[in-house]
Amino acid sequence: MIITEKAQIIFNNSLSEEIYSMKLNSPHVAKQAKPGQFVMIRITNDYSFILPRPFAIADCTKNMIRIVYRVVGKGTKVLSTRKPGEILNVLGPLGKPIPKLKNKKVVLCAGGVGIAPLRFLASKLAKNNEIFLYYGAKTKKELILVNELKPLCRKMVLATEDGSYGKKGVILDFLSPDFLRNQKINYIFASGPLPMLKNLELKLQILPEIPVYGFLEAKMGCGCGLCYCCGVKTREGKYLRICTDGPVFSLKKVDLSSLNK
Ligand SMILES: Cc1cc2nc3c(=O)[nH]c(=O)nc-3n(C[C@H](O)[C@H](O)[C@H](O)COP(=O)(O)OP(=O)(O)OC[C@H]3O[C@@H](n4cnc5c(N)ncnc54)[C@H](O)[C@@H]3O)c2cc1C
Ligand code: FES
Repeated sequence: MIITEKAQIIFNNSLSEEIYSMKLNSPHVAKQAKPGQFVMIRITNDYSFILPRPFAIADCTKNMIRIVYRVVGKGTKVLSTRKPGEILNVLGPLGKPIPKLKNKKVVLCAGGVGIAPLRFLASKLAKNNEIFLYYGAKTKKELILVNELKPLCRKMVLATEDGSYGKKGVILDFLSPDFLRNQKINYIFASGPLPMLKNLELKLQILPEIPVYGFLEAKMGCGCGLCYCCGVKTREGKYLRICTDGPVFSLKKVDLSSLNK
């Protein structure tokens, strides 16, 4: 059941210049949240920001949820100034959960702050599956959560565009179709900038047997299916709502060029 709750900020720490990790005491959302889902958060309590902002659930323990976010505009800038002890309005959990997997080999592919939803997914998958993480960022400082993810993964490949850590280049350069085929990878989940998802979909056209899913983003009004502002077109020309039909979609089913970012 989707609910709104008043969640107290436990911490709101900067992980790098523009990336923050915020833990919230949100017991009702935490009790139900599953990987793939997200929350809508009101930036202030006085409606100076009319629309709440969507954030992936990056982690979830008994009463707490965590989000990891990049400051990109006015809302996230103000969010980064909110202090421990303050209260935020949280609506969630929203979106469709990813079904549970067992005894599978799963590649997680992250670009930048796209690592956030994969953190939660990895923590659940690690119990019964083998995880191979491919994770790239612009520079070393933006490779976040690495120490938390390492123990969950059988293999971890890190890359930075400037070569300041790990391999030099974009992460997709290091995800080879031969590796995927030889390892008999069962699923790929990707989260990152739209160009990364587009390139991944193109690259994997030679492996039609591997299901590949992407975490999609769009500007959202309501987050729960009412305003129709988060549409994505399927390859058959039908429109789906990212907030209620996703946000995770098979990249073989959706037309990524219909997203306008
Ligand atoms: C389901 C979902 C999950 C998300 N999870 C995360 C997350 O875990 N961490 C995180 O950092 N961000 C996440 N985002 C993106 C986040 O919602 C936006 O960055 C945020 O709403 C921007 O708010 P703002 O007021 O700072 O920006 P605005 O002032 O509204 O816009 C500033 C810039 O941000 C861009 N922007 C606005 N909305 C979005 C959006 N929905 N997606 C991407 N860019 C946007 C604009 O195009 C513009 O360039 C998610 C988005 C969705 C839809
Ligand atoms: S955000 Fe309102 S329908 Fe998706």
